[in-house]
Amino acid sequence: MFDSGIGGLSIAQCIHQHLPDENLIYVADSQFAPYGDKSSTEIIERVNKIADWLIHQQVKAIVVACNTATVIAIEQLRLRVSIPIIGVEPAIKPAALHSKTKKVALLVTEATAINTRFLSLVDKHKNGAEIYIQPCPGLVELIEQGLHQSEQCFKILHTFLQPLLQSNIDTLVLGCTHYPFVRSLIQNIVGDNITIMETAQPVTDQLARQLANQGLLASNQSMSQQHFFSSRVSTQQARLMSVLFGQNVTLQQFCAL
Ligand code: DGL
Repeated sequence: MFDSGIGGLSIAQCIHQHLPDENLIYVADSQFAPYGDKSSTEIIERVNKIADWLIHQQVKAIVVACNTATVIAIEQLRLRVSIPIIGVEPAIKPAALHSKTKKVALLVTEATAINTRFLSLVDKHKNGAEIYIQPCPGLVELIEQGLHQSEQCFKILHTFLQPLLQSNIDTLVLGCTHYPFVRSLIQNIVGDNITIMETAQPVTDQLARQLANQGLLASNQSMSQQHFFSSRVSTQQARLMSVLFGQNVTLQQFCAL
């Protein structure tokens, strides 16, 4: 699995918890983070480099643990490779069904917010609800720096969320895998009457289904290992990833083939 950085760990945690027998290889493309301000061409190039490397490691499936990379690059990736590719898409459909006020907000990166595949997903699943798309420039960078509990992070979130609160939303979708790490700050700002939705569980379920369908599920817990790579290794990042993943992370350098 991979992400532009540490955000995909929110998905990795859930996969590791529910599929503990599976070996995990996690790539944080931190040298190129954030993806949210990159062009589609740049993102597709990074996605293909990482996927080729993962396939070289003989993985049996790839989880694109990044909403931005999913909307921009997953279709062409599925055409290039034959193993199961599982993407991360914001929970628009369940959010629209859940909302009583029929007003739902989506927090996403800038690249996701303007992506046509994403916009047509919104259209397809909004089910009559009004959808407020809020790009959050700068937020991924703060989380990457380990500032996910800082005053700075609170302030930037407040700026993004305040206008949404005035729109009478009752459901908020986290459309970037970094954002679950600021979920408690978000909940503090929006209050308990707003439901926050994320996608780690549905992605894990989808991965489990695909592995099961193809007879690829692992079944020997004592052998399972987790390996972590980054395109910009630092002690600070290893420390942060250990905290966010919830166990000690040894970080190795990722070098594309
Ligand atoms: N975690 C990525 C996502 O889900 C972050 C994108 C970025 O690096 O801007 O979109």
